[in-house]
Amino acid sequence: MEPSINLRHAIEQRRAVRSFQSTLIPPVILSEILRLGLRSPSGFNLQPWRFIIVRSLDSKEKLQACAFNQRQVTEAPVVLICCSDRRVSEPDYIESVIQLGRDKGSINDSYADYIRTAIPNAFEQHPSFDSIEAWTNRQAMLAVAHIMIVAQTYGVDSCPMEGFIAAEVKAKFNIPEEVDVCCLLALGYATQPFKKYGGRFPVEQLCYAESYGEGWKS
Ligand SMILES: Cc1cc2nc3c(=O)[nH]c(=O)nc-3n(C[C@H](O)[C@H](O)[C@H](O)COP(=O)(O)O)c2cc1C
Repeated sequence: MEPSINLRHAIEQRRAVRSFQSTLIPPVILSEILRLGLRSPSGFNLQPWRFIIVRSLDSKEKLQACAFNQRQVTEAPVVLICCSDRRVSEPDYIESVIQLGRDKGSINDSYADYIRTAIPNAFEQHPSFDSIEAWTNRQAMLAVAHIMIVAQTYGVDSCPMEGFIAAEVKAKFNIPEEVDVCCLLALGYATQPFKKYGGRFPVEQLCYAESYGEGWKS
């Protein structure tokens, strides 16, 4: 199933949508959005993201009550509870990643041995992150970004949301203690018009040449 909107237009058209039509997302499109979105990269290919796909009105109302009653939670035909699982450094899970790589021919014995120690070491020493939650969150949000962009190429609008009470979402949706809720993502078809575009700072203001703060010009 080919997307109807090219990548550049999808990126330029994507807006955080606050109001959705009741039109459902065809299951085949939703499946493709999830499949392609989950092609997102992750450290050691650990794929710590987990998504709960919420479609029933009952569940959406339950979720809305944990999300400051944001209207898009019940209006959107699909809301993803985007989670990240801190248990991905456990040996059994690492073995499952190794097996996956072996099945695809990308992991040999020596790389398997390397990651069996490198992953626990990285999580113990965590030189590039403060906590495991920060690491798993970082990975999961990349997947969320992939999903939003892929969705837009299929004409499916989205709204990422951090306005929710994580403890309540975890309790109501049976989310284990070691799993964190990164954000909610509403998916569906926007009612027009969008809220006015808030704009972005110019590239030169946000990108530096060679060291932080040094002016960059293309
Ligand atoms: C991590 C994250 C959390 C957000 N949380 C909310 C939210 O709880 N409610 C909401 O209406 N919009 C939320 N937004 C949407 C932003 O307000 C929106 O992306 C931003 O204003 C830029 O607008 P645009 O995406 O339409 O360009 C969130 C966006 C991100 C990336």
